[in-house]
Amino acid sequence: MHITYVLGTRPEIIKLASLIQASVREGLPFSIIHTNQHYAERMDRVFFNDLELPEPNHHLGIGSLSHGEQIGRMLTGIERVLLAQRPSVVVVQGDTNSALAGGLAANKLGIPLAHVEAGLRSYDRSMPEEINRVLIDHLSDHLFCPTANQANYLVGEGIRGGHIHITGNTIVDAALDYAETAQRRSDILDRLGLTQGKYSLLTCHRPSNTDDPAHFATLMDAVADIAEASGFPLVFPIHPRLGEHQRQAAANHHQITLTDPVGYLDMLALLQNAALILTDSGGVQEEACILQRKCLILRRNMERPEALENGGCVLPASLSASDLRSAALALLERPVVWNNPFGDGFAYRRILDTLTATADTHL
Ligand code: UD1
Ligand code: UDP
Repeated sequence: MHITYVLGTRPEIIKLASLIQASVREGLPFSIIHTNQHYAERMDRVFFNDLELPEPNHHLGIGSLSHGEQIGRMLTGIERVLLAQRPSVVVVQGDTNSALAGGLAANKLGIPLAHVEAGLRSYDRSMPEEINRVLIDHLSDHLFCPTANQANYLVGEGIRGGHIHITGNTIVDAALDYAETAQRRSDILDRLGLTQGKYSLLTCHRPSNTDDPAHFATLMDAVADIAEASGFPLVFPIHPRLGEHQRQAAANHHQITLTDPVGYLDMLALLQNAALILTDSGGVQEEACILQRKCLILRRNMERPEALENGGCVLPASLSASDLRSAALALLERPVVWNNPFGDGFAYRRILDTLTATADTHL
């Protein structure tokens, strides 16, 4: 039994952390291939430190490229490692280019492939992630779904039920494991001059929001207006895909404080103490439900409908300033009875039990 984890971006490091940590604790033979799709210290190394993860065995050094070239180089690099290693299973997470390349490389070599966070669908084919996740699911031998919804989508797409497992989302494992440590160790509120419960947290990195300068500027006007109306200033850890133009569009508003991307402990502290979260991130929507913070989703569609179930997360009618403002202010007023649909913090246990039970048996 040898598990090879392929990862490359911030959310993959966070969402594979509980599996890697358990592999260390339990003495399971494993290795990590890092494509280095994300490579800046604050998008990469900080998460290995905060989540106490071992150094990857292989760094492929791919970095930022056009999607075709990026996936092509990753595929070549991952295949080379897998040929030498011949693991019993390759594990990929989510819907990034790194996950797709890991999935293709395993599949071409006939190595069983496990997909963590399988079955999500936005049904928006303009998202690169939607194409990636459909392809990875259809390449996979083990499909680990966060909830029954994803399992149903997969069965609907003709994937055989025996390969599908409902495990919860590993983000719950990470967030619950580190929430208390974050409260104890992070001093980010002091550093940014924020008061508990008296600020909002903004993250925004989807191409559909960031790549059109006019749309991005309008969105910043709208969130600054929400900050003004609610009385809660915004803190905005900036994803590096935002260029100077977008930084300026955000910095134009005195209600918005920009910071570099933050590590996981600082992020959990920011999430736990926010009055309101505004985000287009998938992981942050899940964390809002786990940590019981109200969340306005800056998207026109979504692939995590479970987040809407208790009314604590809201998908606005549109991304117009007036729809965003009315959705945010109504959400701040509304009492929410929280429940977390994404799992119990033991997704890693179900996933590893399945992988060890089926080790070395090709499906
Ligand atoms: C990727 C994923 C997306 C995920 C996100 C998590 C794909 C297609 N997209 O998007 O699903 O939600 O990661 O954050 O895989 N950059 C840096 N330093 C870094 C990393 C990126 O400067 O360490 C800049 C580069 O200019 C790069 C841009 O960010 O071109 C975009 O990076 P890339 O990895 O291509 O996509 P993300 O937008 O990060
Ligand atoms: N995150 C973080 N620091 C930041 C921004 C995000 O630690 O400055 C965490 C966040 O809490 C979540 C994950 O990164 O766990 C989400 O990553 P991202 O939004 O980049 O990707 P997505 O989930 O949209 O794919």
